[in-house]
Amino acid sequence: MKIALASDHAGFELKEAIKDFLTEHELIDFGTHSNESMDYPDTGFKAAEAVARGECERGILICGSGLGMSIVANKVKGIRAALCNSVELARLSRQHNDASILVLQGRFISKKQAGDIIKTWVFTEFDGGRHKRRIDKISKFEKGGK
Ligand code: RB5
Repeated sequence: MKIALASDHAGFELKEAIKDFLTEHELIDFGTHSNESMDYPDTGFKAAEAVARGECERGILICGSGLGMSIVANKVKGIRAALCNSVELARLSRQHNDASILVLQGRFISKKQAGDIIKTWVFTEFDGGRHKRRIDKISKFEKGGK
């Protein structure tokens, strides 16, 4: 799977660390590339837009709290981004929400926790059915329908 990665300085170390869990995937790293302070929208929008355009199948975004990157990603049309700090939420974000972007908290979870979350998130499929009806309503709203 082709996966877009992005972080700010607060997520940089975790972004580098999770590459160990993604060796079977093609990774496109939109930065940042150091611990130097920077603004999460600068990398987050690039990665989220690559997913929205279909250039990457999924994305993983990381900032300190996960909140800024969640807001950024969910501003991009067609993106459903989910902030997950447990394996259970990662599973539900795929089964019920068909989340195309996983957001992680660089300052609140360990590398081990991130690895467990990512393994579940990457391989869990969307359940469809009633959940498809619900995300179709989100897509319709996004396109200006009611
Ligand atoms: C950076 O200090 C921090 O504000 C950022 O990583 C993120 O948590 C914002 O939502």
